[in-house]
Amino acid sequence: MGRRALPKVNPAIVTSNHLFELEDLSPPIVLGKFFSEPTRPLELEIGSGRGLFINTAAAEHPERNFIGIELAKRYAHFSASRLARSDIKNAIMIAGDGLKFANEFFAKDSVSAVHVYFPDPWWKGRHRKRRVMREPLLNDIENILMPGGELHFWTDVKEYFDSTLKLIAKVTHLDGPHAVDSKTPEHDLDYRTHFERRMRMHNKPVYRSLYKKRP
Ligand SMILES: C[S@@+](CC[C@H](N)C(=O)[O-])C[C@H]1O[C@@H](n2cnc3c(N)ncnc32)[C@H](O)[C@@H]1O
Repeated sequence: MGRRALPKVNPAIVTSNHLFELEDLSPPIVLGKFFSEPTRPLELEIGSGRGLFINTAAAEHPERNFIGIELAKRYAHFSASRLARSDIKNAIMIAGDGLKFANEFFAKDSVSAVHVYFPDPWWKGRHRKRRVMREPLLNDIENILMPGGELHFWTDVKEYFDSTLKLIAKVTHLDGPHAVDSKTPEHDLDYRTHFERRMRMHNKPVYRSLYKKRP
């Protein structure tokens, strides 16, 4: 299944209000630096890729703030350019490591949702330790989520899905997995993420889970 090349970003788009580098920030996160209404519920997406989720969700939910963190700078830039082009004021992209970000920048009980969609599977056994959905991140997610806050984890890799659900049950007290329905798309970009779109267009399965932090 080929991956489509990343379209060029129009150089006239100014991303200075939507793109930040993790290495230029120091913990804790100061939301007032990024958002005009920093007390809105905050959602964090780790590994935003091309940014379909954060762009759609931020436009649909102006009453929430969104931060996407993406390791690959050119993807973070691409996603931020979409936010800037649409003049979205309640979402930003950070280029950097989501594991470090989740571990160091957020207070306990401060995030209303964490989204992890189609994280890299790192198929080879000796590379598995590079997966993001391992015990350290799961512990951090449980810590930073507020009571009732949600973890959304989707993947197309059954083994990654099953082993992560087992690990979540073992190392956290999160309530779930709750079932998540697959929605019939109403237009070409009506998917949670680009990877969901890609899998569904190739008739590949998608495994979805939702967890909630217990009160
Ligand atoms: C397979 S892609 C999925 C992208 C997007 N979530 C989607 O569903 O279309 C996984 C993304 O996670 C990013 N990534 C991998 N490790 C990361 C980390 N530690 N922190 C932030 N992003 C990471 C990769 O650069 C890549 O863009």
